[in-house]
Amino acid sequence: MSPILEVEHLSATIAGQPVIEDITFTVPATGVTAVLGRNGVGKTSTMKAVMGLIARSGKVVFDGVRIDREDTHRIVRRGIGYVPEDREVFGSLTVAENLRLAERDARPRRDLVEQLFPDLVRRGGQRAGTLSGGQQQMLSLARALLNDNRLLLVDEPTKGLAPKIVTEVAEALEEAARTVPVLLVEQNLPVIERLAADVVVIDSGRVVHTGQAGALLTDAEAVHRLLGVHADTADTVAADAVAAATAPEGAK
Ligand SMILES: Nc1ncnc2c1ncn2[C@@H]1O[C@H](COP(=O)(O)OP(=O)(O)OP(=O)(O)O)[C@@H](O)[C@H]1O
Ligand SMILES: [Mg+2]
Repeated sequence: MSPILEVEHLSATIAGQPVIEDITFTVPATGVTAVLGRNGVGKTSTMKAVMGLIARSGKVVFDGVRIDREDTHRIVRRGIGYVPEDREVFGSLTVAENLRLAERDARPRRDLVEQLFPDLVRRGGQRAGTLSGGQQQMLSLARALLNDNRLLLVDEPTKGLAPKIVTEVAEALEEAARTVPVLLVEQNLPVIERLAADVVVIDSGRVVHTGQAGALLTDAEAVHRLLGVHADTADTVAADAVAAATAPEGAK
């Protein structure tokens, strides 16, 4: 199967300063591909460059079509959903209003959203600003899933969430990824281990590693060298997350 997204020699600048340089990777048409890297290395900039939100050069091919010269609205219409780092929901509007405003297509996929996020349906009348961080993240994901996107870019959905909520968001993403391929920026190694087949590691604006997620995460030396995380820490965190994810409800 051809990749859904091909990024070749992509460079981008913010306020004239280079933020990524010569980024090359592909995203398979199914499953989750994770983008990893330390803070400030250019993960968000990579997503923004793909979406045409910052000045970029290089080649981006989405489902066989070059999109690197296109405006963001055109890219969105082609079917790339973007869930930004800071979960842009309208705080003063209700959950139901947030969802309605996101509907782009003639036939929004309300059934899918209701099936994946029953809690949001129950909270339809609640102002989004009063939701917890995890619930806002779910709403943000739901807004992207309402439309018939052929790729989702999701930036650090678990950032700042409590461990139990991280597991819930990971579960929602796992379900979502059965319907649409996902390019996921994520720093939480257990979440990557659970969701991602492939990884792209960025450092100082450049790709320093691509490969299978499992192969990277079981290589303690590589994890330490590429991500600055001690693998034993990663293993401990991974074991904790697996325990939390598999423990009966009362034990969490
Ligand atoms: N609005 C901005 N103005 C100037 N520089 C910026 C801006 N946004 C990002 N940068 C710079 O671009 C580089 C890459 O930032 P980016 O946000 O892409 O990194 P990141 O990997 O997503 O980081 P994080 O892990 O903190 O989310 C950083 O050096 C950052 O300081
Ligand atoms: Mg970022």
